[in-house]
Amino acid sequence: MAPVCVYGPKLRGTIPLTFAVKIMTRDPTGWMRDEYNKLVEQNFDWKIRELQGPSTPIAKIDGKEVIMLCSNNYLNLSNNPKMKEAALEAIKSHGVGSGSVRAIAGTMDIHLELERRLANFKGAEASLTYSAGFTTNEGLIPQLVTKEDAIISDELNHGSIIDGVRLTKAKRFVYKHNNVADLERVLADAEKENPKKMLVITDGVFSMDGDIAPLDGVVKAAEPHGAMIYVDDAHGEAVLGKGGRGIVSHFNLTHKQVHFEMGTFSKAFGVMGGHVAGSRDMVNYALNKSRSWLLSGSHPPATAAACIAAIDILETEEHHVKNLWENREYFVKGLQQMGFDTGFSQTPIIPAMTGESSKAVALSDGLFKEGILALPIVFPMVARDKARIRNMMTSGLSMEQLDIALAAYEKVGKQVGII
Ligand SMILES: Cc1ncc(COP(=O)(O)O)c(C=O)c1O
Repeated sequence: MAPVCVYGPKLRGTIPLTFAVKIMTRDPTGWMRDEYNKLVEQNFDWKIRELQGPSTPIAKIDGKEVIMLCSNNYLNLSNNPKMKEAALEAIKSHGVGSGSVRAIAGTMDIHLELERRLANFKGAEASLTYSAGFTTNEGLIPQLVTKEDAIISDELNHGSIIDGVRLTKAKRFVYKHNNVADLERVLADAEKENPKKMLVITDGVFSMDGDIAPLDGVVKAAEPHGAMIYVDDAHGEAVLGKGGRGIVSHFNLTHKQVHFEMGTFSKAFGVMGGHVAGSRDMVNYALNKSRSWLLSGSHPPATAAACIAAIDILETEEHHVKNLWENREYFVKGLQQMGFDTGFSQTPIIPAMTGESSKAVALSDGLFKEGILALPIVFPMVARDKARIRNMMTSGLSMEQLDIALAAYEKVGKQVGII
């Protein structure tokens, strides 16, 4: 094959014609379009809705005012005036960014204050904040075990835990969801491999079903094996426990028993950022080892200040958590009285089970027409016959708004043939 000049006159190189044709016709990222089109054909693609304004109990989505039933903003703190004021003040005093990762020049007084306040709120010796909950799990879990160790994980743990576990070389064991007897069996199996260390890891509140991990049972099962215990309390924080202090408080446990109480400021705290609370030794180790902490910029001052203000609010204004639980009870009872199956819910995450995916989609679409935003959870996020609408209760919804939502559920539930 004769060489052909494919460069401009200044670049006098030559390459074979077949290669040149390939360069000109090849679309290196075309496979993404193909994959995306496949998702669209199967109706598995995310249809992103636009929130036009703050996340509030009545919010504007795609130009329509709706009652919000699918936000993790459990206490409606994301638009809280005191927190907004704190964020604005922090911008005035500290600027909009920290300019560095925490370990180099990005640890501001405000970051340290947040960690002290959070540790105190959680009844722990110390805490460490990360850029997000996801990066906490992804950056910390891999530093806790080596190939000589074992990780024992609930089968329904969150994807960020699964990714964190994937980054380890430890031997992996999985126990049946929330099943302490099975955990005991798996711990005994793991012992047979003579691991140097064992780490038991579970979500605190499971985000699909809204059920609570039996953390007291997990502690009882793990203690005789000398295992470390790690709980991801993303959905239990500011929701469970005394004044929203989380799952360790809920079960009257301590951080000598639950060694890593991980959480996020992105849900009930209404802001952004991950964290872990426990012993000072744990925090000293984590901040020297976690790559997602060492190699990623620190929070803008406004974020840290808003998180501190959220802790102030939780410590002084009891009604947010109280209202949340009252709303939760009212809504669950309302759905159940109409004949909806609310699954295993024990928390403000309240599924309305539909079985088939098509029914979940039809129910969600019908609710949206009635002015309710409640999204369907369908296969492959859950098993094919376990589709549902996942409602997230929040403290700011009034009884009147809950009645409107329940009336819409009754109307559309009958139309779709669920109740
Ligand atoms: C159980 C659980 N862990 C961790 C995360 C990640 O938290 P963040 O939003 O702060 O990254 C989530 C968020 O979806 C979650 O549900």
